[in-house]
Amino acid sequence: MPNYLRSHHCGELRIDHLDQKVSLSGWVHRRRDHGGLIFIDLRDHNGLTQLVFDPKDNLECHKKAHQLRSEWVITIKGVVIPRTEGMANPNMDTGAIEIEVEELDILSEADTPPFSICEEVEEVKEDLRLKYRYLDMRRGKLQRNLHMRHQVMLEVRNYLSQSGFFEVSTPILCKATPEGARDYLVPSRIYPGSFYALPQSPQIFKQLLMIGGLDKYFQICPCFRDEDLRSDRQPEFSQIDIEMSFEHIETLFKLTEKMFSSLYKKCLQKDLETPFQRLTYQQCLDDYGTDKPDLRIPMRLHNLNDIAQKSTFSIFLQALENDNTIKAMKVPQGSDISRRMIDQYTNFVAQFGVKGLAWFKVQENKLQSSIAKFFDDTLQQEIIKRCDLKDGDLLFIVADKKNVTNQALDHLRRHIAKERNLIDTSKDAFLWVTDFPLFEHDDNLELQSSHHPFTAPHPDDVHLLDTEPVKVRSQSYDLVLNGYEIASGSQRIHNPKTQEKIFSLLRLTPEEIQVKFGFFVKALTYGTPPHLGIALGLDRMMMIFLNTENIRDVVAFPKTQKASDLMLEAPAKVGEEQLRELKIDIDSKEIL
Ligand code: AMO
Repeated sequence: MPNYLRSHHCGELRIDHLDQKVSLSGWVHRRRDHGGLIFIDLRDHNGLTQLVFDPKDNLECHKKAHQLRSEWVITIKGVVIPRTEGMANPNMDTGAIEIEVEELDILSEADTPPFSICEEVEEVKEDLRLKYRYLDMRRGKLQRNLHMRHQVMLEVRNYLSQSGFFEVSTPILCKATPEGARDYLVPSRIYPGSFYALPQSPQIFKQLLMIGGLDKYFQICPCFRDEDLRSDRQPEFSQIDIEMSFEHIETLFKLTEKMFSSLYKKCLQKDLETPFQRLTYQQCLDDYGTDKPDLRIPMRLHNLNDIAQKSTFSIFLQALENDNTIKAMKVPQGSDISRRMIDQYTNFVAQFGVKGLAWFKVQENKLQSSIAKFFDDTLQQEIIKRCDLKDGDLLFIVADKKNVTNQALDHLRRHIAKERNLIDTSKDAFLWVTDFPLFEHDDNLELQSSHHPFTAPHPDDVHLLDTEPVKVRSQSYDLVLNGYEIASGSQRIHNPKTQEKIFSLLRLTPEEIQVKFGFFVKALTYGTPPHLGIALGLDRMMMIFLNTENIRDVVAFPKTQKASDLMLEAPAKVGEEQLRELKIDIDSKEIL
């Protein structure tokens, strides 16, 4: 068996290593034959080194090199020499040297890969890359991303351990946790007809750890949610989950901010400004139309209800009569936007149910558009002042149901900012969002928890629980980074009576409470410390750190948007025998 132990990695050798005898192992990245000489770029996780095979020096080695093909695995021994005059490659770390090969051994041959591993050669379709993920990894980008992910996890663990937290693993086979998505279920063989649920988060366990007196817990853990997927969602994702007792929200905010400062310094070599900005949920909706605004975009929304009321524009007046909301968004120096482009934006907002997009252009401190005549000079000046308009700006206005107006303008704001390069990408914008409502209405207008049912109500609003529960604010918070919700948490209910009250407002009968959360409510009665926590979405954080909009770029073996693994071909059918053991009878007519 050839000795494939390495003296160096493939990205390490420099001109200082001249004349050294080295041994390298790796993959054949590229082969070029030049007038008798064979050049091989040898690749490993660390970089590339050029090997040269000269028939005059070593005929046998040269002959072997002739057989080499892309992705064969080899090991060589040789001497570091300078590249010949004019052949140095300043774009390559090892571009000043090459290795004159004295010994070559082939460790593995390789079939022709389904796509080129040389990154620069071709753009490869994602489905193909997912099917051959192990080859995609060889292309470097994914390896670099996974390496950064490792560094971030390491730093998180160091930081939290040094801050008095310790990591506890919680079960994967457990019972449904109410985070709002569908559960992934695992059938039990021993208890036919019964199922484990994979955790949507370790929420209940981390609260039990506080009841158990652990004081400060964290865990980097997998979570599973069967929900509609988007570019920032995976059915299986990782959380940095944190919980602590006898502390205030301010302590948790500071801890999180310091953790990010440390990650930025150590992993991204950047300084981070703290404390992070804070806005209430209501302020976010008013100013940006969303609870996760990207604050790198300079545009804001402005409510024009009162001004529109004084106009003679019948569409706006009618909208106000129907209790709609009229909001505007300025596009700085957007006067160059043509009628055709305005039509395109009108179509863009139509997908959110908006029927029309009104607009003004600002010229000589006056509003110009076909509807300007419905706004007298005083009203025009009020609009100009409220929206801080300057000559050359354009103002878009939407009048629709409050949530439709907000949703449409939020999307339009991000769309135009991207299109017109208005996002200040030189900085990262962190934002704490606080004072969320405790409940929201589901599609059937029934109450459901906005965060989860263990979130404590705001102390100032507890008296509204019986009369106007939708008006009750919660003690929950989100952390938003560049328009992504990267973390969520809350002060928890530690009083069993309050917990039961919340369950009953969520229409759980005492029997249902007993079946679903009996163990938990019981645990709360044995002396529960006030406690609070947060969970950070590791994958989303990594997306932002690595500047990608695709969550799959930061996960080693991700699932597709349709929750399948193209490499494993999972989910997959299982054999009759296995089903029989689990006493599961599949109705194949239903599946077809
Ligand atoms: P929440 O459900 O908000 O809170 O989740 C916390 C964070 O996890 C990330 N996240 C996801 N990332 C990728 N794919 C998904 N499908 C996905 N779902 C959520 C988000 C989110 O902010 N137990 C509570 C936390 C707590 O109260 O302490 C919880 O899980 O970045």
